Amino acid sequence: MKFDFDKVIERRGGDSYKWNQPFDQDFLPMPVADMDFPASPAVLEALHRRTDHGIFGYAQAPTGTVDAIGEKLLKDYGWEIDPSWLVWLPGIVVGLNVVCRMLENPRDSVVTTTPIYPPFLSSPEHAQRPRIDVPLDVEDGRYTFPMDRLDAAFEGDARLFLHCNPHNPSGRCLTRAELEQIAERCLSRDVLICSDEIHCGLILEEGARHIPMATLSPEVAKRTITLMSPSKTYNLAGLMWSFAIIPDASVRRRFLHAARGIVTEVNAYGYAACEAAYRHSDDWHTELIRVLRRNRDLVAATVRETPGLWSPRVEATYLAWIDCRSLPIAGNPALHFEKAGLGLGDGRKFGAPGFVRMNFACPLPTLEEGLRRFRAAAADTSPAPSCSSG
Ligand SMILES: Cc1ncc(COP(=O)(O)O)c(C=O)c1O
Repeated sequence: MKFDFDKVIERRGGDSYKWNQPFDQDFLPMPVADMDFPASPAVLEALHRRTDHGIFGYAQAPTGTVDAIGEKLLKDYGWEIDPSWLVWLPGIVVGLNVVCRMLENPRDSVVTTTPIYPPFLSSPEHAQRPRIDVPLDVEDGRYTFPMDRLDAAFEGDARLFLHCNPHNPSGRCLTRAELEQIAERCLSRDVLICSDEIHCGLILEEGARHIPMATLSPEVAKRTITLMSPSKTYNLAGLMWSFAIIPDASVRRRFLHAARGIVTEVNAYGYAACEAAYRHSDDWHTELIRVLRRNRDLVAATVRETPGLWSPRVEATYLAWIDCRSLPIAGNPALHFEKAGLGLGDGRKFGAPGFVRMNFACPLPTLEEGLRRFRAAAADTSPAPSCSSG
């Protein structure tokens, strides 16, 4: 076996945000979205080479990285970009916050869909701009984008749509038809699109493929800020390195203006890691997807076999979104699982109480232990006996 994704590597006691939560040793954390897998050998080699150089001054984009991004986007999506469209960022969440700060008028509103990755909810608040939440629909067991509710949301002062595709936490990989319907609405209302595509390399569904919003048409590209990074797919989140693709010069100027004084140079390691990930990690990535599909299916089977639970099929990402609203623990399922030694994402933070999110990007022994705890805790959900007074 060329890559061993099932080897457990100890992350406690190091710098891992996920594994160093203030819980006891027996706690198994499966909330935070990074993977318990080492980076690809090509990425590790590139980072060793960069370390061996020994000098860590402020970094600028090397031509090799810019070319690697251009070649990757062309190969994967037929998207030909101009290098001048790239803006480097120390993380996608920074990009979400900068985009919200582009809105000039205090009444300019931000539309997003729920449930959603929590910074989509907090970024408009940080920029003190009103937010309009559009709850997704569930049809035939999968989340869909309700076009009538989007129409209503785009009326009035909406100026920005914060879009997530592949969608965290619903696991949807949107079809071209869905993207076209969303884009058409944004364009007709002059609403800027910010498309967070950080999960674009994690398509698990056979036959599905990621379509960058900006590739729909030149008109859509002009109104779209795409946020991308190798950080999720190649497990480089701690390098804090990502980029925006902004084809329109005036939108790019407004973005840079909103970022001035806040976003400066980015991590030198990020450039080296990105080039190695995009150019030399295809075989590692193929194996990763195979392992994630297997893990997804194990989680799905566990949810199916547990009375009272539902979870949509994960078309993309490594995150399972689990509906616990039919269980007696619906008030705070994350707390219930936490007490049973299992850390899961709390649906309330995603705008969806009663749900939990499970990160299944881990070696098989870790997943099996997580699912064992999950099954036991889900089976033990009888409401606490009420205290009788007097
Ligand atoms: C949709 C989405 N955007 C952004 C991020 C975080 O990006 P970054 O760490 O680059 O800020 C995540 C992490 O889970 C995510 O799921």
